[in-house]
Amino acid sequence: MSEPQLKVLLDPDWETGSLVDDVRRGLLSHPRTLPPRWLYDDRGSALFDQITRLPEYYPFLAERSILEQHAADIAAASGATTLVELGSGTSEKTRLLLDAFTAKGQLTRFTPVDVSEGTLREAAARIAAAYPGVEVVGLVGDFTLHLGHLPSGGRRMVAFLGGTIGNLYREERAAFLGALADLLEPGDSFLLGTDLVKSADRLIAAYDDSAGVTEAFIRNALTVVNRELGADFDQSAFSYVPFWDPHMERMDLRLRAEVPQRVRLPGAGLELDLAMGEELRVEISTKFRPERLAAELEAAGLGVAQAWTDDAGDFALTLATKG
Ligand code: SAH
Ligand code: AVI
Repeated sequence: MSEPQLKVLLDPDWETGSLVDDVRRGLLSHPRTLPPRWLYDDRGSALFDQITRLPEYYPFLAERSILEQHAADIAAASGATTLVELGSGTSEKTRLLLDAFTAKGQLTRFTPVDVSEGTLREAAARIAAAYPGVEVVGLVGDFTLHLGHLPSGGRRMVAFLGGTIGNLYREERAAFLGALADLLEPGDSFLLGTDLVKSADRLIAAYDDSAGVTEAFIRNALTVVNRELGADFDQSAFSYVPFWDPHMERMDLRLRAEVPQRVRLPGAGLELDLAMGEELRVEISTKFRPERLAAELEAAGLGVAQAWTDDAGDFALTLATKG
C-alpha cells in the first residue's frame, strides 16, 4: 500500500485555457486582478514553502502549534476513517493529524487535493512512504470545481488548512462552502483553518517580509502570465504594494505600475494601457472573527462543533458538521 495513486482531474489545456478566461476577466475588471491560483506553478509553490519558514509569517507557526496541542482531540471528535485535504501543498502540518489519526488506528485513506501537480506528487509519495497502513489517493484538481470527485464511503473529515479560504472572495467562499456542505454526509466533518484579525503592523510584516520572499511570490504572477500567454509585463516597471484593508478586514496584495505602459498579452488577445500608479490586485488574504466565520459556515448549512486557537489567539481551527 505504500505506492500513492494520483488522479489528474485538470484537463491538459487547463493551464492555458482557463488562464486565458481568468486573465481576461480579471484584467478587464476594476481594480484589475490576476487570479491567485495561478501563483502556484513550481516556482510559486517553492516560494510559498519559503514563506512558511519566515519568522514574520506567523500563520504557519500558529496553526502548527494548534495541531501540536489538539490533533488528538480533533481525531477523536471527527472519528474519521478518510482524511481529505484541500489545497494540501506539501501537507507538512497535516502529518500531525495523520499521526493522531493513525495512533487511534482508525485511518484507512488519505486524499490530498491540489492544483500543483509536482508538489502534490512529491507530498503524496512522502506520506505514502511514512504511513504504509494508509491508502494515499491524490487528486490533481481545483477545490472550486472538483469537490464532486472526493472519495465517498466511510466517515470523512475534509481539512482545509493554512487560511487558504481567506484567499477567496466572500461570494467564492459562499459557493465553496455551499458545495462542500452539499456533499458532506451525516458523520462527516470539515476542519477549517482561518487566520484571525489582528494588528495591522503584524499583518503587514507577515506579507512584506524583510527578505522579500512574499514580494517574489506575488511578482511570480507576472512571470506566469508572461510565460503562459506570451505577455510582456516588465517586472521593473512595477512596485509591490501590500496593504491592510480595515473595512474588508483583508490583506490586499498588489503590484503598482510605476510608469505608464502598454502591455501585450497575445495569448489572451489583449492589449492593456496602464496609467502611472494603476494597480493590479494579485491576491487577497481575508482575516476572520470567530462570530463572522460561524455565520458564514451557518449560511452554508454547517454548524461549528468545536474550535481551537493558539495561545496568542492568532489563528483558529474550526471543526464543523452539517447542521
Ligand atoms: N495547506 C498548505 C498549503 C497552503 S498554500 C498549508 O497550510 O501550508 C495554498 C495551496 O493551495 C497551494 O498548494 C496551492 O497550489 C493550492 N491551491 C490554490 N488554489 C487552489 C485551487 N483552486 N484548487 C486546489 N488547490 C489550490
Ligand atoms: C495560502 N495562503 C493562505 C497564503 C496567505 O497567507 O494568504 C498565501 C500567501 N500570500 C502571501 N503570503 C502567503
